[in-house]
Amino acid sequence: MPRPSVWLIRSALIHLALGFTFGGLLLWNKGMPIHPLLWRLLPAHMEFLLIGWTVQLAMGVGYWIMPRFYAYRGDVRPVWLAFVLLNGGVWLVGMSGTLAAPSWVILAGRACELGAAAAFAAHTWPRVKPMALAATHRQ
Ligand code: HEM
Repeated sequence: MPRPSVWLIRSALIHLALGFTFGGLLLWNKGMPIHPLLWRLLPAHMEFLLIGWTVQLAMGVGYWIMPRFYAYRGDVRPVWLAFVLLNGGVWLVGMSGTLAAPSWVILAGRACELGAAAAFAAHTWPRVKPMALAATHRQ
């Protein structure tokens, strides 16, 4: 598996574990109240599972399986940029609710996530080719 996919998928798995742990704590707190402040984990629970796990897993597998020419997958720098921006954005948005941070922190996090999507799209776009063209490259 290519290195960027290893990092993206491992980070996705870490977010799955953290998101499920927060979910379990939220569920436990609903059944047998532990502390009202535990509800501050809800934004992190949602962000870690919807973006940190689901979107990041798709990016990791996408980088790995999208069409390539022999081992060449194109310029990898936008993918590393997407990795940093996505994880930074997920933690800015996720932790903003838990730490009651000002709303500009959430905006900055969303801007990072959008930047990650744009960087990953910029990398992937040239790899999306119709079948015929891909075949001529092999001759
Ligand atoms: C990929 C899996 C999951 C995703 C994407 C997810 C996403 C969400 C979302 C979006 C909400 C907010 C719902 C709302 O406000 O209407 C939520 C709430 C919640 N989730 Fe999850 N969740 C996942 C798995 C889990 C798991 C495994 C648990 C428990 C072990 C869990 C426990 C909770 C609890 C307790 C709430 C609060 C419900 C309430 O407001 O009363 N979630 N989750």
